[in-house]
Amino acid sequence: MEIKALIFDLDGVIVDTAKYHYLAWKEIADELGFFFSKEDNERLKGVSRMRSLDILLEVGAVKLDDDIKIQLATKKNERYVGMVKKMPADEILPGALSLLKSAKAKGYKIALGSASKNAMTILNQLNITDVFDVIIDGNKVSEAKPDPEVFLIGAKELNVKPKNCVVFEDAAAGVEAAHNGNMFCIGIGSEENLSEADILIPGFENFTINDFEKIIKKL
Ligand code: BG6
Ligand code: MG
Repeated sequence: MEIKALIFDLDGVIVDTAKYHYLAWKEIADELGFFFSKEDNERLKGVSRMRSLDILLEVGAVKLDDDIKIQLATKKNERYVGMVKKMPADEILPGALSLLKSAKAKGYKIALGSASKNAMTILNQLNITDVFDVIIDGNKVSEAKPDPEVFLIGAKELNVKPKNCVVFEDAAAGVEAAHNGNMFCIGIGSEENLSEADILIPGFENFTINDFEKIIKKL
């Protein structure tokens, strides 16, 4: 398999923002009067903000009008952005920056493929915007993962065919999106949530560009 481009999800792959998403959603659940657990939060990974709210409300068995839902999503986002803006640059997940840089140095094209509308804020906060050749975020897509749109736009803007791209994802919806786009997918996390991934690694801590090349050489 000839791999020319690496497409990275953001939340949970490059930075552990899931904890901030969780805290901000939990405050909304608390205000609505129900408990929102960390297990419930797993279902929000990779899905859009409004879909996340629908899942949250489903957990609490709460029904609300659309205008109230928009207000709640806005409130959650303001709290979330407040937290990520205080995040120190060293919250980038271990090994992520070194993998990004060494992949780039080896000539791979690098894209971001994230559902988040806050991707630019987070990348700026981590000082890593320049590592990406192309950044596709929640503001540039109309279909949420598992639709492959975010990755297909990334491949197109990089001028690389989908079959020559590898996606790194931590969410089941993202793995499905990569496969729907005809891309090989490396899952970041555990078998429990990511059994559909082509291969699984726990994170980038002990994962170098040489490890990556060994994997793709065998395909
Ligand atoms: C994804 C996260 O990356 O972005 C989801 O995994 C989140 O949990 C989604 O809901 C949308 O993020 P944002 O920042 O636009 O609310
Ligand atoms: Mg993710």
